[in-house]
Order: sequence, then structure tokens, then C-alpha cells
Amino acid sequence: MQQKLKQLSELRSQRWLAPDDMRSFAHRQRLQQMGLRREEFMSRPVIGIINTWSDLSPCHAHLRERAEAVKRGILQAGGMPFELPAMSLGEVMVKPTTMIYRNFLAMETEELLRSLPIDGAVLMGGCDKTTPGLLMGALSADLPCIFVPAGPMLNDRHRGQAVGAGTHTKKFWDEYVAGNIEQPEWISLEARMTRAPGTCNTMGTASTMTSIVEAMGFTLPGATSIPAMDASHTRMCSSSGERIVGMVWEDLKPSRFFNRKSVENGIVTYMALGGSTNAAIHTIAIAGRGNVPLTLDDIARVGKNIPVLADVFPSGKRLMEDFYYAGGLPALLSGVKEFLSLDCVTVTGTTLGENIARFESGQRPQGEDAIRPLNDPVSERGALGVLRGNLAPNGAVIKPSAASPHLMKHRGRALVFDSIAEMNAKIHSPDLDVDADTVLVLRGGGPIGAPGMPEWGNLPIPKKLLAAGVRDMVRISDARMSGTHYGTCVLHVSPESAAGGPLALIRTGDMIELDVEAGRLDVMLSDEELARRREDWRAPPNPRKRGYIRLYVEQVSQADKGCDFDFLTGFEEPVEPSIF
Ligand code: FES
Repeated sequence: MQQKLKQLSELRSQRWLAPDDMRSFAHRQRLQQMGLRREEFMSRPVIGIINTWSDLSPCHAHLRERAEAVKRGILQAGGMPFELPAMSLGEVMVKPTTMIYRNFLAMETEELLRSLPIDGAVLMGGCDKTTPGLLMGALSADLPCIFVPAGPMLNDRHRGQAVGAGTHTKKFWDEYVAGNIEQPEWISLEARMTRAPGTCNTMGTASTMTSIVEAMGFTLPGATSIPAMDASHTRMCSSSGERIVGMVWEDLKPSRFFNRKSVENGIVTYMALGGSTNAAIHTIAIAGRGNVPLTLDDIARVGKNIPVLADVFPSGKRLMEDFYYAGGLPALLSGVKEFLSLDCVTVTGTTLGENIARFESGQRPQGEDAIRPLNDPVSERGALGVLRGNLAPNGAVIKPSAASPHLMKHRGRALVFDSIAEMNAKIHSPDLDVDADTVLVLRGGGPIGAPGMPEWGNLPIPKKLLAAGVRDMVRISDARMSGTHYGTCVLHVSPESAAGGPLALIRTGDMIELDVEAGRLDVMLSDEELARRREDWRAPPNPRKRGYIRLYVEQVSQADKGCDFDFLTGFEEPVEPSIF
């Protein structure tokens, strides 16, 4: 990319620091109050490090220390770092769900960048919602930014097998409920499986999203696959700090390189990874912040014919550490390069194609098969199926590569739960009228209804069916599912039941038909019957009367629109501080 470097006087931070007036006097005075010398901030780009570290965020436990490596890189490149803590969304700790706070983090990121004398930003995150939250905010602020992924945790072993977070927890839980695991083993598993800081080591939402963001051009090449506890991770942090300073002088802000083609590169990557269904929502939201309108049909069109190449749970059999040994994301991108727009520019200032070529000309890993070739994929079935029909007029999704082939076309009697509380109270009852062909339905799990669209969509298999050997059933909800989970789960039904979607109208005993190949999800009811039932339907009251969750329920869009707030899509130039 042809570069005309910025002059010092053109830096955004200089509007705060350079003028000879009383406001700027106060800005300089207060920085010196913190022990800084005038020379340390007067003639350097000011870099904000937005860090989502917290003591209650296990996946980011190392980011406080890694911020020091980022600062080292910034200082060595002639910039001045300032660390800015932001809301930390530890996926397993935050209730009711981190999804409700993704937009909060995006707003916080945007406003931190907008309100402070920042020339460029390093975004530190990785646990599921932190990646889209940070990037959505940075896209809206449109300042040069680079993403530093937290990196996946290390593998553990149990009974001679490599085990990791999420997918194995679910597998072991089903065996525990079925009575195949004793309590002492269950308790010992609790202290294992997540043996070091870092994000989930399956291809869950965390690794899916960081990889998508890398393919869109927002990280150094290969950054997202490096295990959190590898020394390369610290070096990547330092290199990212060094690079953001160059990006500021080059004015390499997102609006100069983020476009529809970079979004589509993210989608191709998502499919080849066998990534999390959650990525469909986040990718639409990220694209919207960059003024790229994106629909579920766009994702289905771009992703069509892209097989799953990453042999990583839950679609495959390995973990992220194995993916790294096989060459990590650069190796995967090399495998699908015929589907990518190679001329897209990245934070390096070079194109995605140039970055892939650099990887290919280096030493390729030998004998590691966690990344398969195009002619021998893990699955031809694809990472995302988009469904429509009279049960999901605006769309629903399923992950075929993590579902059971025999359930891809299925007709069964609905067993409907009105709420998660009702489901939890009844699902394991010995009297439950259910068999392996029943379609389990949960409503009230959508963006408004829950609220926040929690990961309830992997409805538990009733205990009596588990004991009989059943391990999968068709399950339907307007909720999401953890990217680490698997099963024939139809998710994100839109419009959701709380918004009056047809999901609100079905009853136990109705026949439901799923046909993934045909992209259909229907209830065998006439339009007249649905209209009759609609006359009796009443919208549930807003569950929260105050605060952020009230704002969320009033403003959030449906899953097919990315669950963003309408008033936050798009970006605009940062406000001139001299106005105030
Ligand atoms: Fe943080 Fe899975 S809980 S990435």
C-alpha cells in the first residue's frame, strides 16, 4: 500500500497536547502529575492499549502481564503507551450472559477512543464476546487499531486422551448423567481440562472469532493460533505494539482497508474452521460497524462449497495446540486461498496474499494433520446451514459439521418448553412424554426474551434417553449455543418468540419438519391456524425497568441483524476536542 506518512502536527493527540492555551496546559500538567517527562508524550504517537484483563476472567489472566510486552514494543517504536482497562467478559463467569454486554464493551471501546487523546489502539481480548465487542467499537471510532488475541489454553490429558474446554465438559457431563462416570472422577476432571490461562482450546467462539478477525486483516499473521502460554505469544504482543506505531504514521485506519472483500475473507475462514454458530451474529455486527451490510444469505452464499479443513473439536478431533503445530491460521488460509480475495490489505500494510506467500516460502510444518487439504476435508457438510420456513421467516442457523447425519432430514412431534426454568424442572422427569424422534423446543431464549440470547440452545437430552443410549436429538430454540458444543441444534430462530415470531405459537404435539439440505424449517400448520393462534398471543413484559439491560431490550436487533443497536452501526470521524 502506498504510504504518505503523517506529520507530528497531524496527530490527533496533538489537539490535546500542543496548543498554547489553558486546556492544553492542564492536559500536559496532568500527564506530568503521573511522573511523565514532557518529552515522553509531546512528540510521539499516543497509543491506547484497551485491555480486557480482570481477576474474574480466566481466559485473560495473562493479559495484564502481556500488556507490558505490548508497551515495550510501542516504546521501542517511538510511541507512548497508555493502558485503558475495559469491561472484561469472562464467558463462564458473567451472568445472565456475556452476549448482553458485547454491545456495552463496543460502546465503551468506541467512547474510550473517542474521548481521549489517542492516535492508535491495541485491542487485547479473545474470550468470546470480547473480540467482536472490541472490534465493533474500534471500527466505529475508525482510528488505527491492531488486535492482540489472548491465545488458546494448553491441552490437558485424561485417560491417555488429549482433552480441552467446552466440548469435553459436555461429553463428560452426558456420561456422568448417564451414570457412566463416578463422582470422584467427575471432581478430578473439574481441576483439569483447563490447565492454564488462555481461551477455550476447541474451535469454539473464541478461536473462531479471533481467526475471522485475523483473516479480515486486524492482527499480525498467525497471531491468533499461538497458545497463550507460548513464548511466541509474548513476542507477538511486543511486535503488535511496535506495528501500531507505524500504522499511526501511515494513517492505516480501518476505513482504509476494511471492506466487503475482507468481510468475505472472514466468512471463508469461518467455514474452513468449522467455526461456532455465534460467529454468524458477530460477523454481521462487525460488518455493520464498517458500513458493510451483511445478511445470513450472504454468509451462506460466500460459505457455500467451503469444506471444513480444521480437524478441531467440535467438528474434528484435535485441539487448538495441535492446530498451531500444523501451521495455525496461515496454513489454513493457504489451504483455502483460491476462495480468498488476496489483494485485501492488512494491518501489516501488506496484502493477505503477500502474508500467505511469506508463510508458504518459510519452513512448512511436517507430519501435522490437524489441518486437512481441500481434497480430504474433515467434513463436506459445512460449518453453517441457514434455514427458513414458516417457523423461522427471517432465518435460523444450524452447524451441520457438528450435527448427526441421520437427523439432517427429520420430522417429529414437538415438545415445547416456554422457558428455561420450565425446561430445567421437567427435562429429566421419568414421566416426560419423549422419545428419540421428539423435537425439543425452547422459546424465550432470544435477544429480547431471555434477555441477551444465552447459550441455552444445546438443550439437554432427557436422562431416560441418555440411559437408553441416545446422544443426539433435534432441538430448536431462539437462543444461541456454545461454539464448543455439538448436536443437531437449530438456533437463532428469527423473529424470536418474545418478538412474536411463529416460535411463540407452536404447541406440544405439533409436527415439525427439518430439512438442512433444502434449508427448511417448518411446522405443519396452515397460515390460517397460525393466524388464529396469533390472536391469543401477548408480548411478555420488559423484564427490566432500568439500567443498561432496559436499553438493551429496547434497542437490540434480532439475531439475523447481528444483535447490535441500530444507533451504533457505521462509523464517523472522532469529534474535534476543540469544540469543547
Ligand atoms: Fe473464555 Fe471459552 S470461556 S474462551
